[in-house]
Amino acid sequence: MGRLEGRVAVVTGAGRGIGRATAVRLARDGAAVVVNDVDPEPANETAELIGRDGGQAAVSTDDTISLDAAKRLVRTAVERFGKLDIVVNNAGITRDRMFHRMDDETLDFVLDVNLRTAYHTTLAAMPYLRDVAKQEIAEQGKVAYHRKINFTSSSAAMTGNVGQYNYTAAKGAVIATTKTLARELGPFGINVNAVAPGFIETRLTAPKEEGSDIGIPQNLRDMAVMLIALGRPGQPEDVANVHAFLVSSDADFVSGVTIPVAGGQLGAMG
Ligand SMILES: NC(=O)c1ccc[n+]([C@@H]2O[C@H](COP(=O)([O-])OP(=O)(O)OC[C@H]3O[C@@H](n4cnc5c(N)ncnc54)[C@H](O)[C@@H]3O)[C@@H](O)[C@H]2O)c1
Repeated sequence: MGRLEGRVAVVTGAGRGIGRATAVRLARDGAAVVVNDVDPEPANETAELIGRDGGQAAVSTDDTISLDAAKRLVRTAVERFGKLDIVVNNAGITRDRMFHRMDDETLDFVLDVNLRTAYHTTLAAMPYLRDVAKQEIAEQGKVAYHRKINFTSSSAAMTGNVGQYNYTAAKGAVIATTKTLARELGPFGINVNAVAPGFIETRLTAPKEEGSDIGIPQNLRDMAVMLIALGRPGQPEDVANVHAFLVSSDADFVSGVTIPVAGGQLGAMG
């Protein structure tokens, strides 16, 4: 029996990269998973991967930059699988530019996707995480099991990164708010933690193509890998493994921390 048997999880940004690997891994561990992504095609592909693996998945294309959409996402979990136990806030985006060229629209977009989606999804989940736990405590003196909220920061929030004023503003806030929510929700048996991936090979870190909004110039990619003690870029599964640990009962006494998943990257060792 998998260690998440009987649990229900939502994973945002689960159509690609780290989110997909995490959704697949949580399902493999026994959870029913709502695969959320604004892009329907990759979201459906993730759900198909889970189904082929013998797991249970539902798809949501809600853009949780809006609170109403976040409420719809949470309703999908409850209507399809009866409850919600685990939220993995993973959706993220970059729009790198030097600070002197930053504008409000670019700042707001990156804050919205990296911070507001996590804020709204977590807020919408409160009736199913906090209220349910509160009722269990009132009726039985303790929670039936720990519920879990994971966030996604970045090693860039620990080291700083040229061209990422907007992104590090969001990812730094994730570290701080993880600590605040761990304190607020701890009494309800809800663990709140974050991962801070380093250089992980996904669409966000692919070689930047002419005219593309995302990606990293090849010379900077080479430099990033040189800073990794373990000598290789990370894979989405490297981060999924840590999400899976944090949402399992193995991590029931871990809360309020941000775990760097960066291969010992210089400056990002916690
Ligand atoms: N790849 C890395 O090296 C790295 C490093 C540090 C942090 N991260 C963080 O890890 C997370 C996953 O990144 P990734 O590298 O897998 O990126 P990715 O681009 O491969 O996947 C991100 C997914 O999020 C989706 N998405 C974007 N906006 C969304 C929204 N509003 N609602 C729902 N889904 C949305 C995208 O469609 C995409 O499928 C992000 O938060 C990212 O900032 C990644």
